[in-house]
Amino acid sequence: MYAITLLGLLVTTGISTPLKYAVPSSLKATASNCIYPANFTVSSFTIYTDRVDSSKNTTSFSFADADTGINAFCTQNSTSKATGANSNQYPCDDPNVTFIYQTTGVAGLTLVELACPGTVPQYEASGLVTPDLACTNSTTASTCAAKQSTITGDFDSLEPVPHPPPSSR
Ligand SMILES: *[C@@H]1O[C@H](CO)[C@@H](O)[C@H](O)[C@H]1NC(C)=O
Ligand SMILES: *[C@@H]1O[C@H](CO)[C@@H](O)[C@H](O)[C@H]1NC(C)=O
Ligand SMILES: *[C@@H]1O[C@H](CO)[C@@H](O)[C@H](O)[C@H]1NC(C)=O
Ligand SMILES: *[C@@H]1O[C@H](CO)[C@@H](O)[C@H](O)[C@H]1NC(C)=O
Ligand SMILES: *[C@@H]1O[C@H](CO)[C@@H](O)[C@H](O)[C@H]1NC(C)=O
Repeated sequence: MYAITLLGLLVTTGISTPLKYAVPSSLKATASNCIYPANFTVSSFTIYTDRVDSSKNTTSFSFADADTGINAFCTQNSTSKATGANSNQYPCDDPNVTFIYQTTGVAGLTLVELACPGTVPQYEASGLVTPDLACTNSTTASTCAAKQSTITGDFDSLEPVPHPPPSSR
């Protein structure tokens, strides 16, 4: 009896990582084979700030989600174009992943990954990590890097992708 119950539990949950958010039943119904974003790693988080030339300022890191199989490189510099509803949100080199890094408001690094890409409405999972920075400064530049070479985070929110704000003309 116990063995049968346990087997049923294993079959329903599969081998995927437990989720920190609820999946709407409407999404479950449209995306039956979806692997949801559950947790992720951020590696080599680095902020370079040039004291003279702001075009050299760069924020970069590597992102990985083992469950969904996404590995992405994320970078933001003076030529990066913001994406999505947040003016501070930038794309990684995988179209399913974006990020927001800020030191005010929701301070830290927020990772946003599309859940079940291609479903309508499109949902996105998000999670925050707060890199603990160590800085090396020279007269011309400052390089701040996360003390942890790899930071692990959990996606703890699942929301429909917000519409971008109406463009002001
Ligand atoms: C994600 O969660 C699973 C299961 O709890 C765990 O085995 C794995 O190490 C976690 N990965 C990260 C990057 O935290
Ligand atoms: C970018 O660089 C300029 C000049 O080097 C500096 O004053 C500014 O604070 C930097 N901006 C950010 C967002 O780090
Ligand atoms: C990223 O999203 C696209 C659709 O936008 C999908 O075809 C692709 O498989 C996704 N990549 C990964 C690694 O999940
Ligand atoms: C600046 O960032 C963009 C992505 O936003 C990247 O494609 C480009 O290579 C970066 N430029 C430099 C000089 O690192
Ligand atoms: C190094 O530079 C960073 C960023 O510009 C700044 O926050 C920090 O206070 C500086 N540290 C020292 C010791 O000057």
